[in-house]
Amino acid sequence: MTIEELKSKFIEKYGEGEINGYFSPGRVNLIGEHTDYNGGFVFPCALSFGIYCLIRTTERKSVRFASLDMPFEAEVKVEELNIAIGKEWVNYPIGVFAQFMKKGLTFDKGADLLFYGDVPTGAGLSSSAALEVVTGVVINETYGFGIDRIELAKMGQKAEHEFALVNCGIMDQFVSAMGKKDHAVFLNCDTLSYDLVPVILDGVKIVISNTNSPHKLDSGKYNERVAECHAAVKAIQPYQQITALGEISWEDFLKVEDKIENETVRKRARHVVSEIQRTTDAVKALRAGDLLKFGVLMNGSHDSLRDDYEVTGFELDTMVEEGRKIEGVIGTRMTGGGFGGCTVSLVKEGAIDTFIEQVGKNYHEKTGLKPLFYVAEIGDGGKKLF
Ligand code: GLA
Repeated sequence: MTIEELKSKFIEKYGEGEINGYFSPGRVNLIGEHTDYNGGFVFPCALSFGIYCLIRTTERKSVRFASLDMPFEAEVKVEELNIAIGKEWVNYPIGVFAQFMKKGLTFDKGADLLFYGDVPTGAGLSSSAALEVVTGVVINETYGFGIDRIELAKMGQKAEHEFALVNCGIMDQFVSAMGKKDHAVFLNCDTLSYDLVPVILDGVKIVISNTNSPHKLDSGKYNERVAECHAAVKAIQPYQQITALGEISWEDFLKVEDKIENETVRKRARHVVSEIQRTTDAVKALRAGDLLKFGVLMNGSHDSLRDDYEVTGFELDTMVEEGRKIEGVIGTRMTGGGFGGCTVSLVKEGAIDTFIEQVGKNYHEKTGLKPLFYVAEIGDGGKKLF
């Protein structure tokens, strides 16, 4: 859909007048999975697809929500923009309005909003974070609140906690707000200090493979993993003064690993601590131009998510196994929360057609599902379009 088409959809819905347009991207995480809510490192990049939001302010003291992707629509009084509506998609933007209200900010005008997404939903590419961040940017700029980008990312995360009931980390909202074209964000999720690292992949592309098996982040499994990590911290505390798994090095972890009695909790901790080490190693490798090493670390990440963190499943594992059979695949792993969704692979340009054809065919034969493939373009974080 072009910008002009989007504008005419807006006019069809709300009539003629001034319109402003904003966009925030989805993301693909290159490495550093399930580390963010443990105060560890992540290394995601913003995608060129995401969520668009068109807005016009009105004299009515209410906000109207509509989407080109979802049939449900709502009109909410400005003083009620902190009340959830059933289990509808509008709770994501409403959850963000609610964060502004919590800061004591009020809306002196109403607004008409129209959303549209070109990021596949339920694919683990953070369509919900993109929706939260675009809403935050729209509100901030329209009402002139002057809140900085990192705070907007945190408000998106809170909206997710309070209105979608997922205790997610900060990665998705952060990269959607702060990403930069052709860069990945090396983020310390404890301090929120970050580096934008150029992604220079000489003759290699990032390929995203969608298993088309929807990831079910709200299924409770995600919150279960968060709780298991807290249990691991508790089990380690008598031996090491830590408040989060991100505070213990791999070497120190090996010394206390045996003290964690519950085997499941021990495995979860082993994934998190080793993944944090892999992430810093991977960023070093990329900076040094050592893509082969980066690929080996990506593979290690998947195996750890499969064996120790147990968030992959048949479809993601099949996609990864089939990918690894193709010559020219440098590394491949699941990306995002897991339990379905997408994998991310580094593939030599000359091998991409074979990859899509062979992996597509074999994956379909084994799972009965038709996968989708996207050659990723790394885009910018949330911005005003017009
Ligand atoms: C989801 C969450 C993120 C992060 C990833 C796993 O995408 O929203 O905060 O925890 O899972 O790395």
